[in-house]
Amino acid sequence: MSPTDDGRSRVLRRVQISSLATCVPPRVLTNADLERMVDTSNEWILQRTGVRERHIADDDVATSDLAAEAAQGAIEQAHLTPTDIEFLVVGTTTPDTFFPSTACLVQDKIGAKGAWGFDLGAACSGFTYSLTTAVQMVAAGAHDHALAIGADVMSRIINYEDRTTCVIFGDGAGAVVVSPAVDPALRVIDFAHEVDGSGGQALRMPAGGSRLPASHETVDQRLHYVHQDGAAVFKFAVRKTGEISRRILDRNRLQASDVDLFVSHQANRRIIMAAADQLGLPEEKVVINIDRFGNTTGATIPLALADALAAGRLKKGDLVLLASVGAGFTVGAVLLRWAY
Ligand code: UT7
Repeated sequence: MSPTDDGRSRVLRRVQISSLATCVPPRVLTNADLERMVDTSNEWILQRTGVRERHIADDDVATSDLAAEAAQGAIEQAHLTPTDIEFLVVGTTTPDTFFPSTACLVQDKIGAKGAWGFDLGAACSGFTYSLTTAVQMVAAGAHDHALAIGADVMSRIINYEDRTTCVIFGDGAGAVVVSPAVDPALRVIDFAHEVDGSGGQALRMPAGGSRLPASHETVDQRLHYVHQDGAAVFKFAVRKTGEISRRILDRNRLQASDVDLFVSHQANRRIIMAAADQLGLPEEKVVINIDRFGNTTGATIPLALADALAAGRLKKGDLVLLASVGAGFTVGAVLLRWAY
């Protein structure tokens, strides 16, 4: 980084994802387990959501633990040391505590001395928003190496007596290191994000914040859990995943056929496939691993990227389209050429 006289670099640099690592807790909750807990069936869950099993954190494991493990993996893979990380952002809906932020806890756990960072609240768009934020920090020349993390322990805010939500979610974390691009062609190309707060009631945790602080009543009424209008979220997610993907492709003069890999937030297999159909993307270009992890909120996209890499479906130079829709509503897309 070479700052100008006033100490600020004004040249936007090209930025790449240099590494990726994930972490899921070992314990697995299967559909058969859920059949014993609520009135549901493996067939219903598989057919309506695509989930077979999800990973669930033990009681003594919190979001920062999973996030720190993923972050350490990403730093090692990038051949960096923790003190090379100057900035970190954690997209999470389930921070360890309101404060300190999970970013502070992760910074300390991984030994990123001198770094700064914060948590970012964008629910299931936590990773696309965090990635864009970290990319902008590096592009602006403010920092050379940044960590974008998506991490959630959703099981802490799920009511395991509510069959409409407990079958969907799981726990996990993913982290990427972003750095100045080595090859300018292999970079994060563009991002598109929007929020639509008018949909806020459709997916929320009603209590625990300043609107409705924790009390005996809020606990008795189970207001510290995820509440959702599944059908409303489903319709919005299908429409906006398609729309934002189309928008980012159009403005970069790209066709859906140019995309090598479509990595959408994993909320429901049917949402992903409906959005892919709208875009005209064949199944072989779509990553789906919701069957093994469920909806891990901030972690779904890095978990899906990691699976694609491991399966040899993601290669250097591939055009990758990330897309997400989450509570808020939040909507995001990131377009990039994979750099390694
Ligand atoms: O990242 C964002 C997070 N959230 C989402 O993405 C959620 C988006 N929405 C969805 O994925 C789907 O709407 C759900 C999976 C939540 C629900 O699927 P659906 O096809 O929209 O089902 P539905 O809510 O219309 O319910 C159909 C029936 C209902 O019974 P009745 O009223 O028809 O008798 C539900 O009570 O299925 C029932 N049902 C279940 N049955 C067995 C709901 N959950 C279950 C269940 N097992 N787990």
